[in-house]
Amino acid sequence: MAVEQNRRDFLGMAFGGVAAVGGVFALGAMKQTWDPLPSVQAAGFTTVDLSPMKPGEFRTIEWRKKPIFILKKDSNMEKNGNRDVVVDGSEYTVVIGLCTHLGCIPAWKPNEQKFHCACHGGDFDVSGVNTFGPPPRPMDIPPFKIEGSKLVLGEEGPEYDKLVGNA
Ligand code: FES
Repeated sequence: MAVEQNRRDFLGMAFGGVAAVGGVFALGAMKQTWDPLPSVQAAGFTTVDLSPMKPGEFRTIEWRKKPIFILKKDSNMEKNGNRDVVVDGSEYTVVIGLCTHLGCIPAWKPNEQKFHCACHGGDFDVSGVNTFGPPPRPMDIPPFKIEGSKLVLGEEGPEYDKLVGNA
């Protein structure tokens, strides 16, 4: 009986904990699983070396507590001159990985070549542009600067200004 009671208590705590910190936990788990790229964090800047990424590869890193999606486009993926971040001659999708509807974290679906938000069924294409469901606009591009094969998140370089129309 005592054992059963403890087990119930434990399950209750576990579910409570998941509900309370679900978002943070999910982000932490993603970072651990999907962040093998060396990154340097200082004063809100995160430097990511893109050179190890292969065409079609998708990564999530964390920047200022937000998930950042990085997708290296392969030759089959549609290019988007208004949104692609070009580093060393390769196009990348670099977006803040939060749905523009109500802020859930969409999932990259490689087989369907899209990002899908499970909260209300929103879809985004390979460039992070909303294509279906309630999201009202594309996923946001974080401020970035390019240094050789590295992406510096948190600083607005000329490539960023050009993409977001500040040039
Ligand atoms: S939060 Fe993504 S579709 Fe609603």
